[in-house]
Amino acid sequence: TGYYTYDPGFGSTASCRSAITYIDGDNGVLLYRGYPIEQLAEKSSFLEVAYLLMHGELPTKAQFGAFEHEVTHHTMMHEAFRTFLYGFRHDAHPMAMLTGMLGSLSSFYYNDLDLRDPEQRRLAAIRLIAKVPTIAAACYRYSIGWPIRYPKNDLEYTTRFLHMMKEVPSGPLELNPIVSKALDLLFILHADHEQNASTSTVRLVGSTGANPYVSVAAGVAALWGPAHGGANEAVLKMLEEIGDAKHVQSAVDKAKDKESGFRLMGFGHRVYKNFDPRAKIIREMTHKVLGELGVNDPLLEVALRLEEAALHDDYFVQRKLYPNVDFYSGIIYKALGIPTEMFTVMFAIARTAGWVSHWLEQQNDPENRIGRPRQIYTGATPRDYSPIDARA
Ligand code: CMC
Repeated sequence: TGYYTYDPGFGSTASCRSAITYIDGDNGVLLYRGYPIEQLAEKSSFLEVAYLLMHGELPTKAQFGAFEHEVTHHTMMHEAFRTFLYGFRHDAHPMAMLTGMLGSLSSFYYNDLDLRDPEQRRLAAIRLIAKVPTIAAACYRYSIGWPIRYPKNDLEYTTRFLHMMKEVPSGPLELNPIVSKALDLLFILHADHEQNASTSTVRLVGSTGANPYVSVAAGVAALWGPAHGGANEAVLKMLEEIGDAKHVQSAVDKAKDKESGFRLMGFGHRVYKNFDPRAKIIREMTHKVLGELGVNDPLLEVALRLEEAALHDDYFVQRKLYPNVDFYSGIIYKALGIPTEMFTVMFAIARTAGWVSHWLEQQNDPENRIGRPRQIYTGATPRDYSPIDARA
């Protein structure tokens, strides 16, 4: 017996104390460790942001050098991963492979991991940040039948990932620096977002004392859903289906019709009720990057018309539904040459920095205890078992 607060979807439950990320949903404010997302997007790099999220402060030059060195020297995968990877169906979704591959990290790095030792916890976090891009690139290459590439440790984090993903055996890869820069910025914007579904999943698994590799693998699984990180892939598919600006209104009408089961992908947010500051940055960036790369994508026009139509529609205005981070990100990923089924994987690479930071924070938190929500029971009252022959 007991008295519990009923809070479906945890809309008004604070599950922990955290000093990592601050969101003011009414005013569109997002801070990582106190720094506005706009400033980090303009001035920082993803790896520096990862350091900031993990450690709480921006690094000095020496601290950053040591961090980058460490991340760079943990980028390799154990060779036995190949056998594991080659067991997936050739057309498996990269998110399915990523979930399995990350879970399997604990079979390589868990036996000697003493979770009571802060240094070993830190090392596990570094391993995750370092290895996720290598695994992600391998999943992609396997899915298109290309040989796996080893990480080139003379490149920086994001460029190294792009290299592993795109290099072809026949010759050197000319990477456009605009592409690396844009992807790095997208990684910064996706790096953390306080207690979203995947981070809460990582914390819930972590609260049981399970190791960080499986905790993060569970986070990847939560991220995959279209209501969360899977939205970026769903947005692009939706824009392709709409196909032309003249079909925009019927898509808006369909999204308003609850019977249709269709929602405007990339619209709405549990916390942001005014605008999503990440979407604002990505919107500007989309125009700039498409211009710089000379890409003329008709889907951008569809997206702009869709945004305009929704923002002027009472249904969306009344419910405070605005474009979220994933509304424009797909168009940029596409322009950067990232295939659609890899969009959510991009999100997972970036969010790994946030997940491990939350896991580390949780392990240090004296108030941490197993996450164990209660329920409002709606089932049968007590009754007696009847033998199978006596049942109607
Ligand atoms: N299209 C049409 N109607 C919507 C949408 C949408 N995208 N989003 C919310 N609504 C309606 C919803 O039907 C409800 O209407 P009513 O009050 O009449 O029942 C009202 O708005 C409130 O929605 P909710 O489902 O209670 O809101 P929530 O906070 O539980 O869900 C959300 C938030 C992001 C899951 C939801 O807005 C959604 O499904 N959006 C589309 C998927 C998407 O873009 N997800 C990415 C989120 S941002 C990045 C990330 O977290 O990964």
